[in-house]
Amino acid sequence: MNKCITTRLCGFIIILSVFLCYPVIRSQGQTPLIQNINNRAVLSLNGKWNYIIDPYEMGYYDYRAIPFDENPKPQDRAFYTNAKPKDKSERIEYDFDKSPTLLVPRDWNSQDEKLLYYEGTIWYKKSFNYHKDAAGNRVFLHFGAVNYRADVYLNGKKLGYHKGGFTPFNFEITDLVAEKDNFVILRVCNTRKAEEVPTLNTDWWNYGGITRDVNVAETPAVFICDYFLQLKKGSGDVLKGYVKLNGQGISGKEVRLTIPEMKFEKTVITDDAGFAAIEVAVPGLHRWSPEDPYLYDVKISTSMDAVTDRIGFRMVETSGMDILLNGKPVFLRGISIHEENAIRGGRAYSREDAIMLLTWARELGCNFVRLAHYPHNENLARVADEMGIMVWEENPVYWTIQWTNQETFNTAATQLKEMISRDKNRASVIVWSMANETPVTPERLTFLKNLADTARSIDNVRLISAALEQHGTPGNELVRTIEDPFAQYVDLVSFNEYIGWYDGLPDKCRKIEWNILFKKPVFISEFGADALGGMHGDSLTRWSEEYQQYMYRETLGMIGKIPQLRGCSPWILVDFRSPRRVLPGIQDGWNRKGLISETGNKKKAFYTLKEFYETISKKY
Ligand code: GCU
Repeated sequence: MNKCITTRLCGFIIILSVFLCYPVIRSQGQTPLIQNINNRAVLSLNGKWNYIIDPYEMGYYDYRAIPFDENPKPQDRAFYTNAKPKDKSERIEYDFDKSPTLLVPRDWNSQDEKLLYYEGTIWYKKSFNYHKDAAGNRVFLHFGAVNYRADVYLNGKKLGYHKGGFTPFNFEITDLVAEKDNFVILRVCNTRKAEEVPTLNTDWWNYGGITRDVNVAETPAVFICDYFLQLKKGSGDVLKGYVKLNGQGISGKEVRLTIPEMKFEKTVITDDAGFAAIEVAVPGLHRWSPEDPYLYDVKISTSMDAVTDRIGFRMVETSGMDILLNGKPVFLRGISIHEENAIRGGRAYSREDAIMLLTWARELGCNFVRLAHYPHNENLARVADEMGIMVWEENPVYWTIQWTNQETFNTAATQLKEMISRDKNRASVIVWSMANETPVTPERLTFLKNLADTARSIDNVRLISAALEQHGTPGNELVRTIEDPFAQYVDLVSFNEYIGWYDGLPDKCRKIEWNILFKKPVFISEFGADALGGMHGDSLTRWSEEYQQYMYRETLGMIGKIPQLRGCSPWILVDFRSPRRVLPGIQDGWNRKGLISETGNKKKAFYTLKEFYETISKKY
């Protein structure tokens, strides 16, 4: 064989071997988000996962800081290979099966004292067997959320990665999953970074880990991947939306929409992209509302697949300074909520957690909750649908984001789209919030306007808002002005204010004048004061329940005079963990603005707000 051919052959062998031995970065990466995953036949991977704490990321990088993913040599040291010694002499310096376990879904911080403040990488591993229900079906690995970045591997092959700690994602594993001994491994990193969303500084605990459900879902070869159905904007009884199929040969397929209770059926045909628009009059639809949270069983089916969902139909819009629900003015009697079960500890994630939080809100007299400052788990919106509580969901664009960084915008936009994709069929969700308390600059305005345009392009049947900026007027700081330029692009003019806590004492509320330059509904998205549950004193004793109650009384009197006020969501339902709150004996790592303490005890101000809402509810 001549030299030239030999050289070429060797070259080919090297290229081939390189391709075959280092993990395939699968071209799919994430696959389109599967709507209503819990309606699928799923194998839950919830439960105990082995974990390895890896602050130096030696399971991901070699000692020259080259990621094993990109390193052509076989890398038993890469944790995602789950390597075992082949004989008594081989050196492998990790072993998932001999490592401790963490519960999934749960953040890691609340599961072990040594992890309470941990920020960095933790590797997770779960083994499972899988038997497909039918040959030809497709198999997906779905995560409710992982905070913050997840690199996902199955059987030693990289599926891809996801960034964003509060939204779902999935990967197709059809041609990788085996009948026996599959192992899924995640590298989870919750290290805060300036260019990420949220950025470095937040007033909440940076809970890391696989914080929501993990499921293996099976679908037919061609399946109903996504759908959206709601009353058409400004219409009477017209349902508008779409269905999206996924698979091969998705063009010209019949898709049937049925609402059995209405004896309604409509068939649509998909286009070349597997997409079918829906717009059809359905006279006499029973509207969803807080007083009557009516949900229909909706079925979407094709010759190969069927999905059912419980959907409420309602219209929310603004008219002048009013918010209209099904054409009637409504006042949003709200409360802000962080996604935390303070009693158990850690991130809330379950249906039971959602019921606990929303039951407290209901006891307060709320018809509305602001889910701050990031998308909460899917149970919240589904339980709110059932209980008749309207919902504000928020993208974690919080404080000092990198407004001129395109990658930062892409990360923010991706999380916004994932939030809307997951909850667009929830009647309770009436507001998409783009941001919270972000400094007014031209770059920030462009960033937020582009987010608002993105949201409206996906969903035009909900209100857009954000916690905007307010400021004192030069020469007279008792006149608070709302002239945030982003207010021109929102439906609801919302802002946070802390007169009486961060700005003066509660009696200052009586001297304040609000100067709001927009003829739109006004919503006060935050006000509040810290109180250590059980600490008592006079109304000027800071941190006492009496001070918090005094501040609420003065604030409610003040905002009651704002003519455009159409709602508020005081900060906050329950005390929550924050590394920024370090006052010994009072805060000890907790933000104490809750109306309920972390032990579940209601403070005096709880009843003050409850009384205010009882009065308001008589007027609407
Ligand atoms: C801000 C912010 C909250 C924070 C609160 C507080 O308005 O939006 O995230 O927790 O104030 O200072 O308690």
